[in-house]
Amino acid sequence: TDIENFQEQLLEWYSHNQRILPWRENQDPYRIWVSEVMLQQTKVDTVIPYFNNFMEKFPSIKDLAEAEEEKVLKAWEGLGYYSRVRNLQHAVKEVHEKYEGRVPADPKLFSSLKGVGPYTSGAVMSIAYELPEPAVDGNVMRVFSRLLCIEEDIGKAKTRKTFEAALPTFLENVPPSQFNQAVMELGAMVCTPRSPGCLLCPVQEFCEARMQGKEQMLPIKEKK
Ligand code: ADE
Repeated sequence: TDIENFQEQLLEWYSHNQRILPWRENQDPYRIWVSEVMLQQTKVDTVIPYFNNFMEKFPSIKDLAEAEEEKVLKAWEGLGYYSRVRNLQHAVKEVHEKYEGRVPADPKLFSSLKGVGPYTSGAVMSIAYELPEPAVDGNVMRVFSRLLCIEEDIGKAKTRKTFEAALPTFLENVPPSQFNQAVMELGAMVCTPRSPGCLLCPVQEFCEARMQGKEQMLPIKEKK
């Protein structure tokens, strides 16, 4: 089917073109979680050194749970949005105390932790545990708004649900960690905001926006 061909071409491309990033070294859920929290409002190149330093200082759930808040904030200095790391440490303490230091492999339990929204939950559950959960952030909405020609305003809170509803079909019969990260990688390297690199795109033949010449017009983001 078209979906199977799309999946195969995307995953084949990702297997050869992915960047080597420190949080891709293994599937430790704690490492993935920290990386996703850092990556929420901060670019990959900026995150890398902070991530390495953070992992050196707080290598495990236990280390972060027991650390002085001051030392944790110090390691975050420069990344901004400090509520992110306060919430992270709060949530990590709960995992330490309630789940014996093991990140729950259950989207419902994981999402109930402080600061863990739908994106973080989907990213960590899929990348660390291979659960077929969508992980929809702005990059993923850009890629799929073009592929499926979705003309909803991505600035609206409820639009994310449209993408979450479209994604489960695409996550069937593939490794969720590879599929979700391949979409992120495509958004970062090819299907970029301004001038998307359609000629280099491994899935150009499946792109509805490209067929209609609308790739530059999507995603739609109404200014408020
Ligand atoms: N942006 C958000 N999550 C990411 C990831 N796991 N890899 C690369 N970029 C990302």
